[in-house]
Amino acid sequence: MVNTEKLFSLKGKTAVITGGTSGIGRTVAEYLAASGANIVIVSRHLDKSEETARLISSEYDVKGLGLAFDVTDEDSVIKAFDMIDEKIGTADVLFNNAGININGGALELKYRDWKRVLDVNVNGVFLMARSFAEHLIKAGKKGSVINTASISASIVNLPQWQTAYNTSKAAVVHLTKTLAVEWVKYGIRVNAVSPGYVWTEMNQIVPEDITKVWMEATPFHRFAQPDEIAGAVIYFASDASTYTSGSELIVDGCFTSI
Ligand SMILES: NC(=O)c1ccc[n+]([C@@H]2O[C@H](COP(=O)([O-])OP(=O)(O)OC[C@H]3O[C@@H](n4cnc5c(N)ncnc54)[C@H](O)[C@@H]3O)[C@@H](O)[C@H]2O)c1
Repeated sequence: MVNTEKLFSLKGKTAVITGGTSGIGRTVAEYLAASGANIVIVSRHLDKSEETARLISSEYDVKGLGLAFDVTDEDSVIKAFDMIDEKIGTADVLFNNAGININGGALELKYRDWKRVLDVNVNGVFLMARSFAEHLIKAGKKGSVINTASISASIVNLPQWQTAYNTSKAAVVHLTKTLAVEWVKYGIRVNAVSPGYVWTEMNQIVPEDITKVWMEATPFHRFAQPDEIAGAVIYFASDASTYTSGSELIVDGCFTSI
């Protein structure tokens, strides 16, 4: 007899979630814990990370750890994975979710803004994935990386210009495929989730004339709720996807289908 619950279960695994105190990361962290995973919440504010880890771990009866560092800081990333090993055990799942956007077309965007978006969205994902993999390899364990890309990886998002963000998310998709192939031999799978427009703080501050254009162009004519991203992450994190690596799962209410 097959067991669907077991297929999707994360019981006994540990998942690291960057940007885990808000938006998609906060919600997905809760679903990962509900699926049985111990959770490590990463943000840049220790009080928020610890509070989120404490609330979720007590609610779902799993272990929780809150850490604070900037994902672009190589030394902090390296130290964080040592601390995870020490405090909770080698992580099995990495949800690389932290990301930022600074709007602006190529002609007006400041170079320092271009560099910051690329730094967080691409270098941060790379540094986290690399340290995560190094610890798995050392421990002789298999694991799963889930990177957060975007529909902006494959389309030019309108009506606002966001040259750096679009470029960074396209890089996340190709980094995902590259790491997936490089790390096959270690049993480390690497996949990407590409959300469409999700109702988080990132979008709650966007002017209505822009969100109106987005919703008209989305066949579902609504934002996704953060909960609607969780299933894709659990699929990639769990044994339901043992033959899936280097994939991008687009969750966009048909936005990129037309
Ligand atoms: N909301 C959307 O419509 C949407 C669509 C597609 C993709 N995404 C992507 O989903 C991810 C989550 O976005 P969200 O909508 O939940 O936004 P959010 O702003 O609520 O979450 C982003 C999180 O990343 C953290 N973060 C930013 N820079 C960091 C850094 N240098 N180090 C550590 N943490 C950092 C922030 O503090 C925040 O908690 C992002 O990668 C975003 O690009 C969002």
